Amino acid sequence: MKVLTIGSMNIDHVYSVDHIVQPGETLTTGGMNIFLGGKGINQSMALAKAGAQVYHSGMIGEDGTMFLDACKEYGVNSDYIRTIEEKTGHTIIQVDKNAQNCILLYGGANRCLTEEFVDEVLSHFEKDDILLLQNEVNLLPYIIDTAYEKGMQIALNPSPFDDKLNECDLTKISIFLLNEIEGGQITGESEPAAILDKLQLLYPNARIVLTLGKDGAVYAHRNERYEQPIFKVEAVDTTAAGDTFTGYFLAGLIDGMAVPDILRMSAKASSIAVTRHGAVQSIPYRSEVEESLK
Ligand code: RIB
Repeated sequence: MKVLTIGSMNIDHVYSVDHIVQPGETLTTGGMNIFLGGKGINQSMALAKAGAQVYHSGMIGEDGTMFLDACKEYGVNSDYIRTIEEKTGHTIIQVDKNAQNCILLYGGANRCLTEEFVDEVLSHFEKDDILLLQNEVNLLPYIIDTAYEKGMQIALNPSPFDDKLNECDLTKISIFLLNEIEGGQITGESEPAAILDKLQLLYPNARIVLTLGKDGAVYAHRNERYEQPIFKVEAVDTTAAGDTFTGYFLAGLIDGMAVPDILRMSAKASSIAVTRHGAVQSIPYRSEVEESLK
């Protein structure tokens, strides 16, 4: 079984700030760093660091070749990343003194996927292979329909949530990995238990992983439900915490681990990621996660 992510690659410009800038305010930053990020590649890297064999696909510009180097370094297959004449996606991220962030996203090359490109990439995958998606590339409805036709299992992290997701046939999704805000936007509910109930009603066969920030995560699949609290740490940057959880969760499923153990491993991996700055580089390796769980 192979795992493919068709997803974003962003150059993250990360500014340390006292507080998130307010309308009309000019704020001097405490510092700036450039990191590799993008929900797609972060999740591919988390899968790879957790030990899974993963293929990443998407588009970058000539200014994004460092993503190809990073794939090589962390063991992500980059055969299906195309370089085009467009700027690589980028973000402007503010991280405040409480480690909270806000993100401005410029899609760039991430939003230049074509049906011909998607068909070519998917032709290398078959029934039961896993496709992991987020909402930072264009053509999501087409990608979902085409992968579903092939019999692939589709995992969706509907992030960032926007109206375009309403064009997707979410009944074709096998695994949802989402936070409570996204869960609320899909279901119209606000309480975690009600969100889960509604998601299960809408998508009765899907596995659902709902992350709840400081309240941990909950998992539901048919009659099974599990809860996982967070591991408390001193956070410095929460960017990519959810991506780390997603990658580790899928890696655990692929390994055939029991769900409570997968949740524990994923929560631990996220708790380590938030103690470090940046996205791709903040994600821990499996050995470190396992050592820390002992
Ligand atoms: O989930 C974190 C990611 O969201 C960042 O790396 C940034 O690129 C945005 O896409």
